Amino acid sequence: MNKPIYISFKQNTDLRGCLTAIDSENILPFDIKRIFYISNLDDIERGYHAHRKCEQILIPICGCFNLVLDDGIEETHFVLNQSHIGVYIPLFHWLKMKNFSKDCIILVICSYKYDETEYIRDYNEFINEVNKMR
Ligand code: TYD
Repeated sequence: MNKPIYISFKQNTDLRGCLTAIDSENILPFDIKRIFYISNLDDIERGYHAHRKCEQILIPICGCFNLVLDDGIEETHFVLNQSHIGVYIPLFHWLKMKNFSKDCIILVICSYKYDETEYIRDYNEFINEVNKMR
């Protein structure tokens, strides 16, 4: 099973501002199929699901938040607070997002189309499926 990991993207900063590029110079673990972004976040935690087919990279393009990833055995905590550093989420990792700053915007890069049937939204089902794979 792949491991979650921070991925740093090239940032070009000059007097005009800051441009962050996500291209073939970065070693992405998958081909990009879809992107979406999450904004106007409240204090309510999000996620609470895992994916069977869709790998993702989460990037805080504005503000910051905390990410917790559970592989069925242990939880790993990530602090996302730089706009050029994301976290790669492999398949079969239960994800929780929390502690969003007021200005937080999360860019999500995906390896797969939106398909509700590839989500696991029940934690017990997640544990069952992940145990079968070991
Ligand atoms: P969901 O994945 O549950 O969000 P979170 O990870 O923050 O808990 O998605 C929220 C809603 O948006 C849900 O009704 C499905 C819908 N949605 C789409 O229509 N297309 C998409 O690409 C995504 C990611 C979600």
